[in-house]
Amino acid sequence: MAAEKWVLSVTAQTPTNIAVIKYWGKRDEELILPINDSISVTLDPGHLCTTTSVAVSPAFTHDRIWLNGKEVSLSGGRFQNVLREIRSRATDYEDEKRGIKITKKDWEKLCVHIVSYNNFPTAAGLASSAAGLACLVFSLAKLMNVKEDHSQLSAIARQGSGSACRSLYGGFVKWIMGKEDNGSDSIAVQLADEKHWDDLVIIIAVVSSKQKETSSTSGMRDTVETSELIKHRAKEVVPKRIKEMEAAIAKCDFPSFARLACADSNQIISCVEKLNRHEGTPQVAYTFDAGPNAVLISKDRKTAALLLQRLLFQFPPQSDADLNSYVIGDKTILKDAGIEDLKDIEALAPPPENASTQRCKGDVSYFICTKPGRGPVVLADESQSLINPETGLPK
Ligand code: ADE
Repeated sequence: MAAEKWVLSVTAQTPTNIAVIKYWGKRDEELILPINDSISVTLDPGHLCTTTSVAVSPAFTHDRIWLNGKEVSLSGGRFQNVLREIRSRATDYEDEKRGIKITKKDWEKLCVHIVSYNNFPTAAGLASSAAGLACLVFSLAKLMNVKEDHSQLSAIARQGSGSACRSLYGGFVKWIMGKEDNGSDSIAVQLADEKHWDDLVIIIAVVSSKQKETSSTSGMRDTVETSELIKHRAKEVVPKRIKEMEAAIAKCDFPSFARLACADSNQIISCVEKLNRHEGTPQVAYTFDAGPNAVLISKDRKTAALLLQRLLFQFPPQSDADLNSYVIGDKTILKDAGIEDLKDIEALAPPPENASTQRCKGDVSYFICTKPGRGPVVLADESQSLINPETGLPK
């Protein structure tokens, strides 16, 4: 290792994901091993993603992390698991031009600086820790010249945050629960990429961007400790749903996809059910994660535009809201719905099947329109780095 005070950095961007067959319940809390397989759709990182820059320098004195602009503690077990696992797989690195040579042994001593931003509310049930931990693993693996493939990296991400393992891939992803006690076979695999089924449009109703009241970890622990039904779910219900969901994704069979995703979630439900009943076959699937935000998956753009009209009619923004910040992400859906300003919402007719729908002004904070998206990428352009290349501190 040269004595110069160089800074070596990598920047990466990683998507979040929404489970359509849920991960709920751990068989090993330490290694984060689930009691059932799960399947997710990776969301377009253009709308929801984490960007992380990681750097090493002989000048750094200790490992540090800045999350969304604030330095936070790195002492948590999840971060430490990831750092330990990645460091142990680091390999020799050399940049002759810059005179940087780092051996496998050097990596153990070099301290890292991590700067990470989520472009969506952290801890709002939008799987920020999934995108965040996946991005941390992916960017550290690139920096430290780790040779493992995405599935092996997914097993490391899993030890940071369970659902993070599914964010190592784009498109449609299965997290195989595995059987081994050491978790080596509890990994994510890609079922199909994001181009396989690109008609789908996903609308997220952000009900609250407040911190969740119950963490997923303690919620799961309570369920596993107190519920007999969870064992039945893990052993009998989910394995069947996983098979059916895999077949539905392979065939782009929306009615089956919708039936399975809705059955596997439990809480906007009536709005979707009424629309589906009115149309005769499922057009929209709803699913919820541990937070209160609803994720609605529409069969195609035409249905998404119809759904958005109904959602905006039923959940109008506060009168002083600005439509541009009430519906974010892919705004072309709003255009397809014929809504260009707030007045257009007021001009919408009540849904034909339910003219007496109660309107709930202000109940939804905002809507995000998005679609299935790609997996992690390295951002090679220096201008995209979050770390100052001279000081190694956040830009
Ligand atoms: N938890 C939530 N967001 C995160 C991020 N961007 N990086 C690491 N952990 C996180």
